[in-house]
Amino acid sequence: MEVKRIAVLGAGLMGHGICQVAAQTGGYEVYLRDVEQRFLDNGMNMIKTSLQKFQAKGALTEQQVNEILGRIHPTLDMKEAVQNADLIIEAAPEIPDLKRQVFKEVDQHAPPHAITASNTSSISITELASVTSRPEKVCGMHFFNPPQLMKLVEVVRGAKSTDETINTVLEVSHKMGKETVLVKKDCPGFIVNRILIPALNEAVALYWEGVADRDDIDKAIKLGLNWPMGPLMLLDYIGADTTLAIADVLTREIDPKFHPTIGLKQMVSAKLLGRKTGKGFYDWTQK
Ligand SMILES: NC(=O)c1ccc[n+]([C@@H]2O[C@H](COP(=O)([O-])OP(=O)(O)OC[C@H]3O[C@@H](n4cnc5c(N)ncnc54)[C@H](O)[C@@H]3O)[C@@H](O)[C@H]2O)c1
Repeated sequence: MEVKRIAVLGAGLMGHGICQVAAQTGGYEVYLRDVEQRFLDNGMNMIKTSLQKFQAKGALTEQQVNEILGRIHPTLDMKEAVQNADLIIEAAPEIPDLKRQVFKEVDQHAPPHAITASNTSSISITELASVTSRPEKVCGMHFFNPPQLMKLVEVVRGAKSTDETINTVLEVSHKMGKETVLVKKDCPGFIVNRILIPALNEAVALYWEGVADRDDIDKAIKLGLNWPMGPLMLLDYIGADTTLAIADVLTREIDPKFHPTIGLKQMVSAKLLGRKTGKGFYDWTQK
């Protein structure tokens, strides 16, 4: 199926970036929907700032920036966002009830041929698909943060996703300049988070047990495994709350061995979430 128009639901951290990549690299017409004007404005401002950086580096001309912005249509109205969309990419908060509600609403207003893909990090695609009248047209499309720079998209097959749905989303991802991997079974954490979250959890445990200092834990993994940044710094970027939420899902749905460490839970209780609260393992207030 040929995709011409995309709707991105959620103009937050991920949604604004996905919208930008779709309009910039993919050349798609994109409707960007959020629930309050201030969230839409914030998302659009982040897109403009990012495009200006591309322009400053000489990667885009002023005309190209204006053309990209001309392809993006911010709206608060779900019906307006999805009624002419061929593909809807859902990037609403990681709250199962909220996402189920969003999927029901999309199902009411989207044209019959439209595919809905969720950017969820941990919620079951099959479960989201089950609240719609077209589970065969639902799959996962998991971008990485920031979507403008990170190359990978995990495309996730739900229990009923058809080959056409998967192939369309793979094709759109490639048109958006991304590399893809296919997750053949809908399983929590997909590939990357199933491997990453236990690693982050263990890094917190080492720190918490006093086995090594923060900088040595990060240095060991950077130099020993060639990661671009250490696990405790990465955790600050992702957010301790998000990491805990994913660890909880992996524990509940796959195996108790994924249980979050006490250190991770306490970071969240203390609101030491990382960059978003200014402090986590590192102090971000000066950066
Ligand atoms: N943060 C990450 O590093 C990351 C990486 C990959 C995937 N994800 C996933 O992406 C999704 C979004 O995460 P985020 O970090 O961008 O969250 P966020 O909180 O920054 O953004 C979510 C946005 O969705 C909006 N929203 C709420 N209800 C809505 C609705 N009914 N319709 C449209 N928009 C609505 C919110 O107002 C908010 O602006 C989650 O499922 C998350 O698991 C996050």
